[in-house]
Amino acid sequence: MVRNPVIVGTGSYVPENVVTNCDLEERVDTSDEWIRTRSGICERRFCSDDKSASDLAVPAGRAALEDAGISPDAIDLVIVPTATPDMAFPSTACALQDRLGISSAAAFDISAACSGFIYGLSLAHSQIKAGVVENVLVVASELYSRVLNWEDRTTCVLFGDGAAGVVVSNQPDSPTNGFDSLYIKADGENRNILTLPAGGSAVPLTPESVEKNEHMLAMDGRAVYRIAVRKMKSSALRALNRADMGPDEIDWVICHQANTRIIESVRKRLDMPKEKMIINLDKYGNTSAASIGIALDEARREGKIRAGDKVMMVAFGGGLTWGAAIVNLPG
Ligand code: ACO
Repeated sequence: MVRNPVIVGTGSYVPENVVTNCDLEERVDTSDEWIRTRSGICERRFCSDDKSASDLAVPAGRAALEDAGISPDAIDLVIVPTATPDMAFPSTACALQDRLGISSAAAFDISAACSGFIYGLSLAHSQIKAGVVENVLVVASELYSRVLNWEDRTTCVLFGDGAAGVVVSNQPDSPTNGFDSLYIKADGENRNILTLPAGGSAVPLTPESVEKNEHMLAMDGRAVYRIAVRKMKSSALRALNRADMGPDEIDWVICHQANTRIIESVRKRLDMPKEKMIINLDKYGNTSAASIGIALDEARREGKIRAGDKVMMVAFGGGLTWGAAIVNLPG
């Protein structure tokens, strides 16, 4: 029987604490008007100081399991895409595995920054296709509030905290393919334009590196913008091409929620109608690897995305990394 990985459940979690652009005006030299017009962001969520990535991943993962109607025992692989893990190791995925009571699974994190959700889906898909596992829990979880450099006003106003999960299961009897296509790619040559330099073996945490804020997020916003538009467009076209589909066959597009201007440029280049774009970054800002999953889960729970819909997800992030997936959501 042909093995058929399918997204069978989604879940997400954002912290309750809403931080508006006006709140940020009190912290940095910025304005609600600047942030809205440059990025489309109105507010974001920041978690309290006692929380970590696994704390956000637990409710998102639990919601995805419940939505899938699958018991934790049935999961045989846990993948956590994150750029803000609990710690370097053990992995946040191991913490999540333990805390969700998933007793017999492999678990690991992946580092693909904002493309982590698509990279995670790709891994889940290939592990199932290869016959290694049957049920995979992918939970992207990010706490960018921990790594924002409040002396860099161009970057610190763009990000927020959140987590999103999916269960991907082998469904050989399903009438449709779970995935029409997948595409992932990286360009390490440009790795320095979006980076969290200190805290690893290259630049250890020292009083000097902390003093220089090198343990905080650094981004060349303009360079990222230019490359993001190009690569998100080419990823979408690659994914469509691999599926032998035209843009008109897609019901919904979920781009990485980084900036409405980037999403609009990509939309125009793909000639997609505005109504097909799912956008929620006005409420959450850029939640990095979690952003596509939060938008997917929210749109499903609102009844916007329905069973049988074809959804194209397109990501771009630090690495640089990018990718796209075209999926069919089951009934
Ligand atoms: N508030 C007010 N003014 C600001 C702020 C701020 N927060 N930040 C910068 N400015 C000022 C600058 O100082 C500059 O002033 P000047 O002209 O007097 O020197 C002016 O605004 C314009 O600054 P630019 O950097 O040119 O602004 P730009 O229009 O390029 O927008 C932005 C900046 C929003 C960061 C844009 O480049 C962008 O969206 N880049 C993509 C970033 C992104 O989406 N990254 C995430 C993708 S990957 C991932 O998710 C990790």
